[in-house]
Amino acid sequence: MKRVFGVFGDPIGHSLSPAMHNAAFSALEMDCVYHAFRVRPEKLEKAILGAEAMGFGGLNLTVPLKETALKLDCIRPDPLADKIGAINTVVFEKTGEITGYNTDGLGAKKALLEVAVEIKGSKIVVAGAGGAARAIAFQLAADGAEITIINRTEERAIELAVDVSVAALPGRIKGTGLAGIKNLLKEADILINTTTLGMHPNTETTIATAEELHSDFIVFDIVYNPLETRLLREARAAGAKTVSGVLMLVFQGAEAFKLWTGIEPPVELMKKTVLEALQA
Ligand code: ATR
Repeated sequence: MKRVFGVFGDPIGHSLSPAMHNAAFSALEMDCVYHAFRVRPEKLEKAILGAEAMGFGGLNLTVPLKETALKLDCIRPDPLADKIGAINTVVFEKTGEITGYNTDGLGAKKALLEVAVEIKGSKIVVAGAGGAARAIAFQLAADGAEITIINRTEERAIELAVDVSVAALPGRIKGTGLAGIKNLLKEADILINTTTLGMHPNTETTIATAEELHSDFIVFDIVYNPLETRLLREARAAGAKTVSGVLMLVFQGAEAFKLWTGIEPPVELMKKTVLEALQA
């Protein structure tokens, strides 16, 4: 009998995870299937326990469930997910325990490493202070980066910087508002956009323009809708290296796949599948 995996969220119709994971299962000839399920926050605990009772192989959680999951009695969060404050991957352990992980930060790190970046000691500006920024900040601080969080709402940036500092990780971090962005970018090596600027339908908005960037920069936009965001166009115009948000999507999925199965999935195929789905 096929082993069932799934992603819970609401809305969930446009999720790329089923195509990505089913392509990996097929390539590895694993008798498994991955579905998207619409689950509201108030039904999340029942849905997770139901999936466990039915022998599901594992779950992903997406908007708006990642933070809700952390509050459920049935899930034991791993320490990193606990610090981030969100769970995107659920593992049903052989012992009967249900563990919650967050693979977003590791997904972002692996995406950056695709362009051969040394993270330790790099000066990284992270724009935004939402859930994705939290996952990325904790991961990059663990890897020894010098991080500045910049956010429209300055207090959120400072709050995130304090949360990361309290965790006493090897990196350094501070939080500030958007006002000083130009000067910060002059000094930085890497810019990561986690805000919704540039995302469909606001495709002409951007956190930075070519004039504010430079050719030694690596610019990573976690937005992948559209595939070529205005920020990535501006970065290319400045001669900077770019990293697409598709890579983070693929690598966070690949990390989840490994947690569920212990098997290394075919990331190139997963990337090709996601790109085809986005271009369809
Ligand atoms: P996620 O959990 O996916 O990271 P989120 O929590 O909704 O998403 O965070 C969205 C981020 O985009 C926030 O940092 C938000 O800034 P605020 O904290 O000030 O709300 C940022 N953002 C959204 N619209 C923006 C805009 N027009 N200009 C600048 N930042 C914006």
